[in-house]
Order: sequence, then structure tokens, then C-alpha cells
Amino acid sequence: MIYDGLAILGFGGHARSVADVALELGIRSLRFIDENARPGEHFAGFVVVKDLEYPLPSGWAAFPALGDSVRRQHLVQFALRNNIPLATLIAKSAYIGREATVAKGVFIGNNVSVGPATRLGIGCIINTSAVVDHESVIGEYTHVSVNATVAGRCQIGNNVMIGAGAVIIDGIHIADGVIVGAGAVVVHDIDEAGVYVGVPAKCLNR
Ligand SMILES: CC(C)(COP(=O)(O)OP(=O)(O)OC[C@H]1O[C@@H](n2cnc3c(N)ncnc32)[C@H](O)[C@@H]1OP(=O)(O)O)[C@@H](O)C(=O)NCCC(=O)NCCS
Repeated sequence: MIYDGLAILGFGGHARSVADVALELGIRSLRFIDENARPGEHFAGFVVVKDLEYPLPSGWAAFPALGDSVRRQHLVQFALRNNIPLATLIAKSAYIGREATVAKGVFIGNNVSVGPATRLGIGCIINTSAVVDHESVIGEYTHVSVNATVAGRCQIGNNVMIGAGAVIIDGIHIADGVIVGAGAVVVHDIDEAGVYVGVPAKCLNR
């Protein structure tokens, strides 16, 4: 679905990626909303304002564009509570397999491949060039970072962060709230929240 306009909630790096994909999709009007906006800030000619004015104009939707999963979750819940329509953004260059389901508030970046019969939960990010293969389930507000690979039949929990270039081999289960470091290779299920790094991935002891 193409929206007439998009209220992008946030103005960090991820918000710029969201704007880029939105413009490529042909959405002509954008507005960034960030309470820390400084006067005159803009990106690609679109302004940043401090407050979201709603109801939105007809044909507009909002999009949660914060990298932090908990803050993104709050934005989605705020939108749902206030009947603000939530967009789903799928880059033109992404491939979505047959029978895959994509929830509201999901961002799918350029050159992503989503395999058949996968399920992507509300508010998750499948970032540039990531792969989520067949029948995998990506939980709510989870972030699969740039160039990461989730092989087939994985079950990834809610609010998980899979770092850039990490690999999750097929059939792995990962619990809610886990952080997988950039470049890690996960070869065993992860049942407890924590930070896991390295090849093979191990819990980072603090
Ligand atoms: C894993 C990660 C979350 C740890 O961050 P942190 O808690 O701030 O940890 P620190 O930077 O203090 O590092 C702690 C130790 O882990 C090591 N480490 C950190 N990240 C690592 C990684 N990805 N792989 C291997 N070792 C890593 C550090 O070298 C350090 O080791 P040392 O104590 O022997 O010096 C972070 O480094 C990371 O990989 N984040 C992913 C970021 C990303 O991919 N962003 C993409 C956005 S699209």
C-alpha cells in the first residue's frame, strides 16, 4: 500500500533509512517527529517537528523509526491506543516469499530476502541485505541487523537484537531480549537473555 504521507517517529539513523525506502516507494510527503528536534533540522528536504499532531491527514500513516526495540514498542503501542494508522514498509528491492506474513510497523530494507512461510512480528526491523529464510519466526520488535542471516526454521523471540553480519544457523531458538553481537555465529539454542558474541557464539561474561 502506498500512503499519501508518512509521519516518521524518530530522527536518528534508522529514521533516515526509513525515509529513504519510503521515498523510493513513491511516498511524497514525509514529516519526522522527534521531541529532541532542533529548529531547522531536516533530511532530504523534510522537516523535523517536536510533536505528532493527530489525527493524521487522510491517507497518512505513522511509522516507528527508532532502533531501540523498547522505545519502538512504546511508539507502536501509543499509535495503536490512539487509533493512528501504522504503516508497514517493504523496500522495492526486497524479496518476500510466498505465504510469508508481515505485521504492522515492520521495516524491510533494501536487498532483504524473506523466505517462504516466514512470520515477522509487529514492529520488527529486517535491515538492509539481511536474510530470514523459510518458515522462520521473528518476534515482536526484534531487529535483524544489516547483512545478518537467520537460516530456515528458526524461532527468534521478542525484542531480540541480532547484530550486523551475525549468522543464526537453521532451526535455532532464541529467547526474548537476547543480544547477538555483530559477526557472531549462533549454533546452539539460546534460552536466557544476555549478550552473545563470537564464533561459535558464547555469553559475554560481565
Ligand atoms: C555485542 C555488543 C552488543 C557488545 O556491546 P557492549 O556491551 O558495549 O560491549 P563492549 O564493547 O564493552 O565489549 C565487551 C567485550 O566484548 C568484545 N566484543 C564486543 N562486541 C563483540 C563482537 N561483536 N564480537 C566479539 N567480541 C565482541 C569486546 O572486544 C570486549 O572484549 P574485552 O573485554 O576482551 O575487551 C556490541 O559490540 C555489538 O556487537 N553490537 C551490535 C551492533 C550492530 O550490529 N549494529 C547494527 C545496527 S544495523
